[in-house]
Amino acid sequence: MRTVDIPVQTPYQVRIGKGILARGGELLHLVHAPCAAAVISDSNVFPLYGPTLLEGLEKAGFRAFPFVFPAGEESKNLEVFGRAEAFMIRSGLTRADLAVTLGGGVAGDLGGFAAACFQRGIPFVQFPTSLLCAVDASVGGKTAVDLPEGKNMVGAFHQPSLVVCDTGCFATLDSLRFADGAAESIKHGLIADPKLFDRMLSPAWREDLEETVEMNVLVKRSFVLGDEKDRGMRQLLNFGHTLGHAVESLSDYRLSHGQAVAIGMAAEARAARKMGFGKVHEKEILAALRACGLPSQSPFGAEEILEKALRDKKRAGNTLTVGALADIGQGFLKKLTLEEFDAFVRLGVEA
Ligand SMILES: NC(=O)c1ccc[n+]([C@@H]2O[C@H](COP(=O)([O-])OP(=O)(O)OC[C@H]3O[C@@H](n4cnc5c(N)ncnc54)[C@H](O)[C@@H]3O)[C@@H](O)[C@H]2O)c1
Repeated sequence: MRTVDIPVQTPYQVRIGKGILARGGELLHLVHAPCAAAVISDSNVFPLYGPTLLEGLEKAGFRAFPFVFPAGEESKNLEVFGRAEAFMIRSGLTRADLAVTLGGGVAGDLGGFAAACFQRGIPFVQFPTSLLCAVDASVGGKTAVDLPEGKNMVGAFHQPSLVVCDTGCFATLDSLRFADGAAESIKHGLIADPKLFDRMLSPAWREDLEETVEMNVLVKRSFVLGDEKDRGMRQLLNFGHTLGHAVESLSDYRLSHGQAVAIGMAAEARAARKMGFGKVHEKEILAALRACGLPSQSPFGAEEILEKALRDKKRAGNTLTVGALADIGQGFLKKLTLEEFDAFVRLGVEA
C-alpha cells in the first residue's frame, strides 16, 4: 500500500493499493473513533462494493447507514443533496459522526458537500472507485452540486479526513469511464509533470495503476498546498475545464466529464497556439488523447460555448483566467479580457 500525506490545515492521508477496500474500516479506525457513518454511494457502485465496505466498517465498530442515489451526474443536484441531509437526520447522525463516500466524483462531490453542510460540517472519508475520482476529485476538498444554470455552482471547500483508493475497483469500470480518468491524468502531466505526461503516451500507466494514481495525487497535492481555496496557482488545474465545462453542460452531460475536458484541453491548446501565448504542444496533446481513446473535437459551436463559458464562476469582473503551457509539465495562468476570451473560444473551437 502506498501512502501520500496531504499536509493541509487539517492534514490527511491518501492510501492507495489493490484490494484495500476490505481494510477500509480498519484504516478509518486509525483516524476516527467508531461512530455512525452515512455511506453515500450510487446505484452502480454500491451493489459492487458496498457489502465489502460495510462489512469492514462494522467489523471496526462503525455503524453504517447506506444512502444510495441513482448513478450519474443528473443526481449531483440540490434535490438529492436534500435527501441525503434528511437521511442523515433520520438515521440519527450527530456532529460526532461522519459521512463516507463510495463511488466516483459524483458520490465524492455530493457526499462531501452533504458532510460540509450537515449540522454545519461533519468529517467525511472518500473511497474513490473511478479512476477520475482517484486521480483528481478525491483530493483537494472541493465539494459541490450542479444547478440547471451550470456545474458545481453551489458548493464548499471541505477536506476529507482520509482517502482510501482501492485500484482493484477500476476493473469494473467500462472503457469510456476508464478513459475519463486518463483525461485528468494527461492534464496533470501537461501542467506539472512531464514524466507523467510521457507515461500517458505508453501502456505503462495502465500496467501499474498504483503508481499512476500516486503520481497524480502528488501533482494535485502540489497545487492544493498553499492554495486550499483555489485563489492562485490551483486555478491551473482548470486547464481544459473552462471550455470543457461549457461543452459538458451543453451536452446535457451526455458527454462525460473526462471527454469534455479532453475536448477542452485540445481547444484551449489550439487557441493558445493561434494567439501566440505559451509554447504549446498541440500535436503531443492530440496524440495522448488518441492513445487514451479520448475525443478532441467539440460537437458545439463557438457561440454557444461562449455563452455558457461566460457564466462560468471563474470569471472575475471583466477578465477570465485560463491555464496555458510554457512547456510540457510547465503550466502558467493567463488573464484574458472578455474580448480576448471571445477570440480564444472562437480560435479554439474552429479546427
Ligand atoms: N472535486 C473535485 O476536485 C473534482 C475534480 C474532478 C471532477 N470532479 C467531478 O467528478 C464528477 C465526475 O466523476 P466520475 O467520472 O467519477 O463520475 P461518476 O461518479 O458519475 O462515475 C462515473 C460512472 O462510473 C460508475 N462507476 C464508478 N466507479 C465504478 C466502478 N468501480 N465500477 C463500475 N462503475 C463505476 C458510476 O456509477 C457512474 O455511472 C463530475 O461531477 C466532476 O465535476 C470533481
